[in-house]
Amino acid sequence: MADEACRSYPFSRSRLDPDPQYAELRRTEPVCRVQLPYGPWAWLVTSYELTRSVLGDARFSRAATVGRDNPRECPVQFGQVAESVLCMDPPTHTRIRQLAGRAFTARRVEQLRPRARQIASGLIDGMAAAGPPADLVESFSFAFPAIIICELLGIPEADRHVFRRWTDAIVSTTTSSSSQEQEIYLHLAGYLASLFAQRRARPGDDLLTWLVQARDNQDRLTEAELLFLGMALLVGGYETTAQQITNMVYTLLTHGLQLRQLKARPELLPGAVEEMLRFIVFGNAVNPRIAMADVRLGRVAVRAGQPVLCARTSANLDEQVFARAAELDFARDPNPHLAFGYGPHYCLGAQLARMELQVALDAILARLPGLQIAVPEDQLTWHTGTMMRGLAAFPITWLTPATAALHPVGTGTRKWSGRIHGEGARRRHDSRRAGIQEPTPAMRLDHDDQDAGWPAPRR
Ligand code: HEM
Repeated sequence: MADEACRSYPFSRSRLDPDPQYAELRRTEPVCRVQLPYGPWAWLVTSYELTRSVLGDARFSRAATVGRDNPRECPVQFGQVAESVLCMDPPTHTRIRQLAGRAFTARRVEQLRPRARQIASGLIDGMAAAGPPADLVESFSFAFPAIIICELLGIPEADRHVFRRWTDAIVSTTTSSSSQEQEIYLHLAGYLASLFAQRRARPGDDLLTWLVQARDNQDRLTEAELLFLGMALLVGGYETTAQQITNMVYTLLTHGLQLRQLKARPELLPGAVEEMLRFIVFGNAVNPRIAMADVRLGRVAVRAGQPVLCARTSANLDEQVFARAAELDFARDPNPHLAFGYGPHYCLGAQLARMELQVALDAILARLPGLQIAVPEDQLTWHTGTMMRGLAAFPITWLTPATAALHPVGTGTRKWSGRIHGEGARRRHDSRRAGIQEPTPAMRLDHDDQDAGWPAPRR
């Protein structure tokens, strides 16, 4: 194997654009060898068909990654433990998914939509009150999914700034030592353990109480599984969605035609979200699978024990499946993208993420007229040391009633100073969310006013 050429991976990253190597590989070598900064070389799969084959094939195991040196971008291996849902194979995996999946069905998520609208509207009230320009990342994108996941899990809102530090470190590729990793996990684990203890003493009407009861009353989860599921929901529950809210607003503001289409036809919004999930090159291939047997993948013979990585973002641009794949087409139908994965590990929070993205974009577009990027594009700062692509800050501006009168085709009021509204302003925005004004009806997508409530644990 050492004698065969390995490409260096990840490929270069520039904004949200795909690296041209992906298109070339899909055409010429859809399964190739790559070397990541750490761990052994791996097979990288770039075509749609073969990506789905791997992700849906039980011969490619996630559980087998536990306890071994895996191909990865950062020095330490976060969350590679047998009790983590993402490191399990059926049937253990099926047991956890069936349990947790009951909280994230499409019906349950729809019940959360009215409250999500209130939260989004409250955050935008705060932005509107402070006036443009603002950093969308700090004023909205992180706060919105974080408040929702905190409410779902029953986590005090005041704590979310604390756990954001830990979750940021988990998705960072620069965490450099296992003692640093251990420290982050210990903090997060200690924090969750204290919440479990609180729920045992005083059960609430929230997802954490429900999971604790599934553990205690029915023995359907081990204590470690409970802990890692809590972590997966907390970390998975907002970091990805937060980045994608910003990425989608950026994509809209840099695709004028599609933005105008969406404004003219708000009913396109669910399709627009799906299309942007497909189109945006969000992350590199992560979470390797280990071949449990010799398997032929296209022209390549993968040997038992070899790691395989799937580049879902490349698969999403495969012309064999998506006609005019490089075009952003909000009417694309069908759109079987792999942004949420495929097979048994298909994203547990996909319905929640979809709903959040729809509500967020709906509120931002409806309530911030004349939205624009507040700085020249080359002054935007992109993340470099994280597994996900996105903007570190996203200065935006919009028209207020005063500026609309002054600048009919306006560019906002104040000049971007490079400074966000700051912690104080952010807290002010967030704290206003309680007595919140409803979003304008213009871009409402649907209505559902039922109360949410967690599935009662089976006795
Ligand atoms: C735009 C937002 C999101 C994206 C793009 C996304 C993407 C993904 C992908 C691609 C996977 C599969 C990984 C693999 O097979 O290797 C996954 C799994 C997962 N996601 Fe998400 N996710 C998002 C939001 C969420 C949210 C909101 C939650 C929780 C509330 C969540 C929780 C999880 C969990 C727990 C898993 C592991 C599932 C399993 O192993 O069975 N995600 N996600």
